[in-house]
Amino acid sequence: MTQELEDWLDAVYKTDGDRKKLDHLYDSWARNYDQDLWASGNPYIALMAGMVGRYVPDRNARILDGGCGTGNMAEVLHKLGYANIIGIDASDGMLAAAKTKECYRQLHKMLLGARIDLPCDSFDAITAAGVLTHGHAPAEAIDGLVGIAKPGAPIIFSISKIAVEQGGFGERMAALEEGGTWNLEEQTEPFRTYPFSSQYKDLRHWICVYRKAV
Ligand SMILES: C[S@@+](CC[C@H](N)C(=O)[O-])C[C@H]1O[C@@H](n2cnc3c(N)ncnc32)[C@H](O)[C@@H]1O
Repeated sequence: MTQELEDWLDAVYKTDGDRKKLDHLYDSWARNYDQDLWASGNPYIALMAGMVGRYVPDRNARILDGGCGTGNMAEVLHKLGYANIIGIDASDGMLAAAKTKECYRQLHKMLLGARIDLPCDSFDAITAAGVLTHGHAPAEAIDGLVGIAKPGAPIIFSISKIAVEQGGFGERMAALEEGGTWNLEEQTEPFRTYPFSSQYKDLRHWICVYRKAV
């Protein structure tokens, strides 16, 4: 993995939940983000796209891509024929890069949190790639995403081990399941997030698919 990517990751993880610093970093990283991401060997976009193909048969499904960044998720989905994707992200720079790809129906600057400023029960499917992790979105973002999903909609996301074990996500996910708000369809085995990195060799993510209760 390139030193540049290791440096960006260091900087991102050091922001430690400071919203302004994180947004500023992503604004600056936006120009080279895709090159760094694809060279990193992180398999999450491929795995998520596979899950979307498995759980979202309708290519006109209204899909919310939370924490869309430069649009890597939608770029792949768009190539697979999905034509109704709405992206939201906190960083102007990332959103500007996403816009150039012309694969979103709409893009909004918006935060993932306990409430998301979009109509309740309005999306056929939700994706969130690389954003449910340390210092990015809070655990309550899970509630926000479920709130805007239609009953029965699949909610497909990558999640980091650290977010589950130390960021409150594990508890939130379990509480929603115990409360009958959503049900686990499947999850992948944990995978190495940055398989070529020595510094970040212990980082693990996995992909979850939940379905909002009807
Ligand atoms: C690691 S990048 C992933 C981007 C994209 N989903 C991808 O997979 O290429 C994380 C993105 O989440 C955004 N982000 C971080 N916290 C957020 C929040 N609370 N609400 C919305 N976006 C957030 C960042 O601005 C950044 O674009």
